[in-house]
Amino acid sequence: MVDLNAFIAEVASKINNSVTGIKGTPQELYEASLHIFRAGGKRLRPALVYASGRAFGADEDALLAFATGVELFHNFTLIHDDIMDNDDYRRGVPTVHKVYGIPTAILSGDLLFSLALHIPLSYCSTKMKSSRCIDASRKLAWASVTVAEGQALDMMFESMKEVSEEQYFEMIYKKTAALIEASVYIGGVLGKAEESELKLLSSYGKNLGLAFQIVDDILGIYGKEEETGKPVYSDIREGKKTLLIIKALNIATGEDKELIEDVLGKKNLEKEKYSEVADLIEKLGVLQYAKSKAEGFVADALEDLKNLEGKCDTEYLTLLKDMAYVVVKRRK
Ligand code: IPE
Ligand code: IPE
Ligand code: MG
Ligand code: MG
Repeated sequence: MVDLNAFIAEVASKINNSVTGIKGTPQELYEASLHIFRAGGKRLRPALVYASGRAFGADEDALLAFATGVELFHNFTLIHDDIMDNDDYRRGVPTVHKVYGIPTAILSGDLLFSLALHIPLSYCSTKMKSSRCIDASRKLAWASVTVAEGQALDMMFESMKEVSEEQYFEMIYKKTAALIEASVYIGGVLGKAEESELKLLSSYGKNLGLAFQIVDDILGIYGKEEETGKPVYSDIREGKKTLLIIKALNIATGEDKELIEDVLGKKNLEKEKYSEVADLIEKLGVLQYAKSKAEGFVADALEDLKNLEGKCDTEYLTLLKDMAYVVVKRRK
């Protein structure tokens, strides 16, 4: 049996070593680019690349190139996301634009984005000249297009009074689940997974990603900053249409509804005001509602894995299962 924490630690150490080799000039650009990478993070996406890759017998070097690409891509999105969301810290350290300024933060993101494709594609052009390698690269590029669309929707929704749950799910699929789906797919396609198996892997990744973002919404309000490393109430301050806010706006009436509408999107209120909204959301039963939605997606993700039983390595299939459970239980 492979222990999940030990497995993630093993993957994290491989990725950290591979990124240590990234050097270039001007030095400040590289420092800024790797600022939050060095601050840590859960390394969930590279762990997914490895778990599905090993489940289907992928080559270790191929997995390293793509897992590194996926994590660098993720770090690129985080740097730009913090500019868009006006957030001051992440992974417990000040955000890149806070330390280096917005122009350098934009460029740092661009550098990571380019490396995220350059590293896997270099592998395909020198070591694994096969259509599987090209398809893995294509999936990463697809995720990149999709995340941009999702981030655009996320920002558009800030100024929209009404956003439906259906619109919300499209937005989080694009901004978050697409990359998680891509991570799992990439592992499988670098191995021997067949079309039908890739479909199941994708579906698992999508369901896992949807659950993951709902939990991210929850932790953004009810998480502890010491654990998440991110500022609490930022979503309320920025007027984000998270599942919690959408549902609360739907069911609240009278003074309750007025309170949410008064506070949502107001940038400079006392922390107490935002926490009043947090308490109200809980009182309305919306926290519980969001938790059950996330659990529903995890159940769907587990169902996808059930259909893969007997088709790949059991040990790594079990790891994928364990990851699904962790997504809802996580505190960071
Ligand atoms: C944060 O992702 C951005 C989202 C898609 C919710 P993670 O929660 O995986 O962040 P790190 O990598 O652990 O810092
Ligand atoms: C997550 O965005 C998606 C991306 C970063 C692309 P959020 O804005 O919801 O995530 P956090 O909470 O800042 O990590
Ligand atoms: Mg955001
Ligand atoms: Mg954000």
